[in-house]
Amino acid sequence: MNPNVFIADHPLIQHKITYIRDRSTGAKEFRELIQEITQLLVYEATRDLPLYEAAVETPVAVTQCKILAGRKLAFVPILRAGLGMVDGGLALIPSARVGHIGLFRDPQTLKPVEYYCKLPNDISERDVFVLDPMLATGGSAIEAIGQIKQRRPRSVSFICIIAAPEGMQALTAAYPDLKIFAAALDERLNDHGYIVPGLGDAGDRLFGTK
Ligand code: PRP
Ligand code: URA
Repeated sequence: MNPNVFIADHPLIQHKITYIRDRSTGAKEFRELIQEITQLLVYEATRDLPLYEAAVETPVAVTQCKILAGRKLAFVPILRAGLGMVDGGLALIPSARVGHIGLFRDPQTLKPVEYYCKLPNDISERDVFVLDPMLATGGSAIEAIGQIKQRRPRSVSFICIIAAPEGMQALTAAYPDLKIFAAALDERLNDHGYIVPGLGDAGDRLFGTK
C-alpha cells in the first residue's frame, strides 16, 4: 500500500459510513454525517502540524504546553458535493481560509468540466486540503489538484469519504507524493462511473436534488 494513502479503520467512521450508504438516510442526517466523518478525517490529516512550546500557569503549577505553530491552512471543496465537508473542517480549524473549485463530471465522457475557481490570494503560504466526498474515476480530483498546484501552495492533501480503486490508482499515479485520506475504499466503479457499493450521487443526497 502507498504510504501516502490513509484509509480510516476507526469504528466511529465505519459506523457513520454505514448510515451514509443507506438509501433511506435523509438529507439532514446525511449532511450531519458527512460533516462528522470529515472532522474525523481532518483530525488525521492534520496529525503532523508543527507545535511550539509555551509556559502556561495552571491553578496548580507552571508547565510547558504545546501550541500550534501558526501554519496557514486552507480547505478547497470541489463543488458541489465538497461543500458538504467544509463545516466539518472549519469546526476543527476555524482560522482556515476556504477556496472553491467548481467542476462537474460530464455524464457521457465522465471527464471533469470546470466552471469556477476562486482560491485564497496567499495560497503559496498555505497547506491546502482539497475536499470531495467521492473519488470515482479520479478525473475531478486530478483536475482540481492540478489547478491548485499551478499556484504553488506549501502542500496539498486530498480528503474524501469514499474512494474507488480506479480513482485511487489514477490519483496516486498523477501525484505520487500527494497525501490522500479516505474513510472507505470500495470495490469498483459501475458502467456509469458510480462507486459500488458507494452511496449514490453525493451532491444530490446532500442538497436534495434529483
Ligand atoms: C461528483 C463528486 C466528484 C466527482 C467524482 O461530482 O462529488 O466531484 O463526481 O467523480 P470522478 O472521480 O469520476 O471525477 P459531480 O460531477 O456529480 O458534481 P456535483 O458535486 O456538482 O453533483
Ligand atoms: N459521483 C458521485 O456522487 N457518486 C459516485 O458514485 C461517483 C461520482
